[in-house]
Amino acid sequence: MLINHLHPKFGISIENIKITKLNEEQKFQLINLFEQYSLIIIRNQNIKNEDQINFTKIFGKLEITKPGTLGSNSNLVILTNLDEFGNVVDTSHKQSKNDKANQQWHSDSSFKIIPAQASILSGKQIPSEGGNTEFVSMRVVYENLDQELKDKINNLKAIHHFAHSRSKIDKNLVSKIEYEKFPPVIQPLIKINPKNKKRALYFGSHTVHIKDMQPNESVNLLNYLNEFATEDRFIYSHKWKKNDLLIWDNRAIIHRGKNYNPKQARYLVRTTVEDTSSVAQYLNEKR
Ligand SMILES: [Fe+2]
Repeated sequence: MLINHLHPKFGISIENIKITKLNEEQKFQLINLFEQYSLIIIRNQNIKNEDQINFTKIFGKLEITKPGTLGSNSNLVILTNLDEFGNVVDTSHKQSKNDKANQQWHSDSSFKIIPAQASILSGKQIPSEGGNTEFVSMRVVYENLDQELKDKINNLKAIHHFAHSRSKIDKNLVSKIEYEKFPPVIQPLIKINPKNKKRALYFGSHTVHIKDMQPNESVNLLNYLNEFATEDRFIYSHKWKKNDLLIWDNRAIIHRGKNYNPKQARYLVRTTVEDTSSVAQYLNEKR
């Protein structure tokens, strides 16, 4: 495998591999690179959805796509501004608003009781300008915090709620079924990778507040951490080309989409692996 570094502290691109033709040693190597670098980009992967699903199984158990998302009940999340007839939707359309919601920094599925480990995203149709996906390694961010702050936050927990991230775009964006299926959950503010024990901050657009903390103190802490984490020096911005395949570790990475011309077609396919080693708790245990 030919490896290039994307950011001084995280992320690599790999050349000269086809994900449909990996041998066992290459799969093993890929998992190790994923654990170490948190973000992998492989270009020129003209693959079918089935190929992507098979590839994703290398990393673990696949998520079933939730209600209210294109691809519901399959292993695919379809991120697109095209409707079922292939026409670009209006910016008032639910798909467009969800796209806007994904332009907030987040870790995929952090609102779920079983959050996400890897997300794998394949670029099928790419707008000519804009539409980058940006990444921050929360491991690198954590390493750069003052020791005093690390000590203060190491054992904190935070409440994550799907409705919270959507309400920032449109109060009516969450459907009844999504609201009922995804009540608030409690996640650790620091995730520790079970293999290499590296620590990463864990919060994003789904994070409502810090558990057992005064509201204004919680707002101040999250604002501070958010501003610190998203300083330019921590960001890698990916400019998409058709058939790019991106793999990132939601335990260590936050990401966001960027604006693009809403009249141009965009079609990305995501598969997601469950983080079965880090199951959350419901805020309301009566469930
Ligand atoms: Fe995402």
